[in-house]
Amino acid sequence: MSEADVVRFDVEDGIGVITVDYPPVNALGPGVREGIIAAVEKGNADANVKAMVLIGAGRSFIAGADIRMFGKPRPVLPRSSQDVLDSATKPTVAAIHGFALGGGLEQALACHYRIAVPSAKVGLPEVLIGILPGGGGTQRLPRLIGPKAAMEMIVSGRHVPAEEAKKMGIIDAIVPGKDLRREAIDYAKSVADKRPLARIRDRTDHVAAYKADPGMFDAMRKSIARRARNQKAPYHCIACVEAAVNQPFDEGIATERRLFSELENADEAKALRYAFFAEREVAKIPGAPKDFKPGKISRAAVVGAGTMGGGIAMSFADSGIPVKVLEVSRDVLERGLQRVRDNYAISVKRGSTTQAQMDERMARITPVERYEDIGDCDVVIEAVFERPDVKKEVFAKLEKVMKPDALLLSNSSAIDTDIMAGMTSRPANVAGAHFFAPANVMKLYEVVKGTKTSVETILRTMQVGRDIGKISAVAGSCDGFAANRSRAPFGTEMMLMLEEGALPEQIDKVMVDFGYPIGPFAVGDLSGLDIGYDTRKRRAAENPNFRKLLIPDRLVEMGRKGQKTGAGWFRYEKGDRTPHPDEVVKAVIADVARELGIPQRTFTDDEILKRLLFASVNETCKILEEGKALRASDMDVMWLHGFGFPRYRGGLMFWADGIGVKEVYRQIAEWHQRYGDRWKPANLLRELAESGTPFREAKPKVDMFAAG
Ligand code: 3HC
Repeated sequence: MSEADVVRFDVEDGIGVITVDYPPVNALGPGVREGIIAAVEKGNADANVKAMVLIGAGRSFIAGADIRMFGKPRPVLPRSSQDVLDSATKPTVAAIHGFALGGGLEQALACHYRIAVPSAKVGLPEVLIGILPGGGGTQRLPRLIGPKAAMEMIVSGRHVPAEEAKKMGIIDAIVPGKDLRREAIDYAKSVADKRPLARIRDRTDHVAAYKADPGMFDAMRKSIARRARNQKAPYHCIACVEAAVNQPFDEGIATERRLFSELENADEAKALRYAFFAEREVAKIPGAPKDFKPGKISRAAVVGAGTMGGGIAMSFADSGIPVKVLEVSRDVLERGLQRVRDNYAISVKRGSTTQAQMDERMARITPVERYEDIGDCDVVIEAVFERPDVKKEVFAKLEKVMKPDALLLSNSSAIDTDIMAGMTSRPANVAGAHFFAPANVMKLYEVVKGTKTSVETILRTMQVGRDIGKISAVAGSCDGFAANRSRAPFGTEMMLMLEEGALPEQIDKVMVDFGYPIGPFAVGDLSGLDIGYDTRKRRAAENPNFRKLLIPDRLVEMGRKGQKTGAGWFRYEKGDRTPHPDEVVKAVIADVARELGIPQRTFTDDEILKRLLFASVNETCKILEEGKALRASDMDVMWLHGFGFPRYRGGLMFWADGIGVKEVYRQIAEWHQRYGDRWKPANLLRELAESGTPFREAKPKVDMFAAG
């Protein structure tokens, strides 16, 4: 596309209108900045033009720089479009609808006025892709709204709704938006004669007040220390705002440019860009009918009022969707609803939800006791006890009452979707909808395809996930599906390393240093050691070769079930969640190692990290090989949103690519020799290593949808 195609200029009523038209979101792709510059120059030169409007065609103003262009050579313009807008000889007005983000908001900040429709959102989210606002945003925003508010916006990257942006002083006026172009022209006419031109770069009032408060920046650095560990971008953002306070505008811009270039090609930015596109890719089903648009659901039902069922119901209620919760026992139903009420009450107490919001959300949840009462719902999610016979019974009942086009979904975490589908005459409408605990908090929502699930059902089920604010990712039906199955070997290795001499506190520290919010043993204490215990007992009964995990079994048998019993892998003081290493656990580990005759040794942090994550990389290769996931990047999305994998490392497979497929294969092959079958390299892993293909380009060997 040439700049003439992506940016138009026309004159109406004495106002030059610059329209950016670069679908789908008007990112500043090739030719857009050049087009804006050319248009402003035309407006400057045309005596009939009294003022100018910058507006976006289609669904948005400008969503920012074109992220696909980062890390690649780009044309260097003699002057930036912001400079040209800022020094226009006539007033310029940014007319915002949809999003003005990153470089988009930076164009708007270079204009002399900004107006927005009520639904618009503005923000500088660059930090979320590992960079900083590099088009003057870190220098103009503090001059416009003060460094404190600007820093909060830039370091969090949050999207600010128009009304709030108006209160903060980012937006000059909110307009109805019935005809934004017309409203913007009228606004531009009203300011056409105003002089001097309102250039943000010339303002000093807001920043001057903070020159005497250098402590503010250190306080901000301290406040983000935990969540921003291992990352550079948030700190560079703070440094830029600090420069806005302490340096003249042009020097501040030079500082911004210098710090931006330190970030653009760093591993952190590469990983975060990868995660951004992986999250968009995961929504795509290859070969899906292009004209099929899943409709919006207006009524949902959840069968089962346990912890999971309650959390799922909350997800619907939180998103404004009325939901019925079905439980045939009144007692269980009441207890379930009370748990939901208690959860909301905790949020109200913490201040993250208001009492009015809690009341509204509770009012959207209707308890029911008869299957007939949910027959009119568009979607039903079964969340009953994890036993095939119980689930089969539920689906047989759903078959009788649900309307013909209803989506019949199961929240099972392991049971084959076909078992449930087999109880109905409409297996095409049955799929898995696997939530992760706590269901109202965790973003991952695994959509599980059974043998007969139709592609339309998959698309509709994914849309349900998005409607309730989740990230939907598709998996094929197999033991554990894709996410938990890929994580299981990590869980096994962490136990087996204990038998060889590692300690829970050492393993947890390695993983927290790596970037996990909490170590895997502390997670075990949080969810309860008894959960894995029951599953292990069942698997041991089914399979005589099952590798017993004696250490956790013994802890459970001693009554150490985690935080709820005051002790598990760690010891806990009353009313405090801090894990303390415990001599009792050390003794159990030593006993088991002695009984098994396993020689004790020390582990380096690097070995711990690789033992845990390589085990999962190998399993993920098997999952892809069998066509149980669509892409390696989908698996990365699952790890980011289901297991707390640090986002600035991209995801499991992206991280493994950083080590290199050949090295991963070499190490796994060595452990195969040392530890035996559980480390047998996946065929796909071997092939990738032989051909030097990165993990993230690995293709499934079986087409999940073609397989029927
Ligand atoms: N660059 C390139 N592509 C972009 C893009 C961008 N900035 N923003 C969105 N897209 C693409 C998406 O990849 C997607 O492409 P696809 O259809 O091929 O998958 C398409 O546009 C639509 O995007 P979404 O599916 O995300 O659409 P939504 O309506 O759900 O969300 C949005 C819209 C809120 C604008 C979201 O896309 C978004 O957050 N975009 C990124 C915004 C951003 O980070 N801007 C800052 C960029 S960095 C910058 O400006 C640096 C500057 O300071 C120098």
